[in-house]
Amino acid sequence: MKRKSIGARHEMIVQPTFLIGTFLEDGAPDFAPITWVSKTCEKDGPCGSQNLIIISMYGTKQTKRNVQRTGQLCINLATRDMLELVDYFGQTSGRNGKKDAVPYAWERAVCVDAPALDQSPWVCECEVARTVTTGESDTFFCRIKNVQVDERIDVESWGLDLTKFDPVIYSGKYHSIGECLGDIGDYYKK
Ligand SMILES: Cc1cc2nc3c(=O)[nH]c(=O)nc-3n(C[C@H](O)[C@H](O)[C@H](O)COP(=O)(O)O)c2cc1C
Repeated sequence: MKRKSIGARHEMIVQPTFLIGTFLEDGAPDFAPITWVSKTCEKDGPCGSQNLIIISMYGTKQTKRNVQRTGQLCINLATRDMLELVDYFGQTSGRNGKKDAVPYAWERAVCVDAPALDQSPWVCECEVARTVTTGESDTFFCRIKNVQVDERIDVESWGLDLTKFDPVIYSGKYHSIGECLGDIGDYYKK
């Protein structure tokens, strides 16, 4: 194959879109889509208890301020039926007042002090363990305190069939995903 150079672009480094839920100082919820999300592992162990989720936020957004103040956040998976919320939360800032033009329901998370969206089928409750500042970005390394999943979805002991969640993937454009292609070992037997 012949390839062409298109410059130092990063859109192909994609993840599901997450709506990060935090509390404002007055206790009202704030949500913002964040897709610079990854993970690392301090030490391999049972139940993934040594994993850290890495979330990077640029600039002076309200969500970043809330995380810096409280160290608590909910990572709410955004699904196709939540696209209006994603688009709305992403184009407005909690710095300019409450984001309540598009209706939504939320409740307090189980293990951290942060809001979880009722509509989200996968919610990860996190606490910040470490922050690294690079230029105008702050990157939060977060410990997982609890994960909630829609109880209608069967969850195996390891691995998730993403098609059951219908996540939104963001590459500068919104996408849905196709088929589940199987497990490690389905294509090459060691
Ligand atoms: C699909 C999507 C993905 C985004 N991903 C990020 C991200 O990973 N990091 C970031 O700093 N901002 C990201 N943003 C921008 C914030 O969501 C946006 O600045 C938002 O208005 C912040 O709201 P807040 O000030 O209430 O926190 C994204 C926006 C959209 C629409």
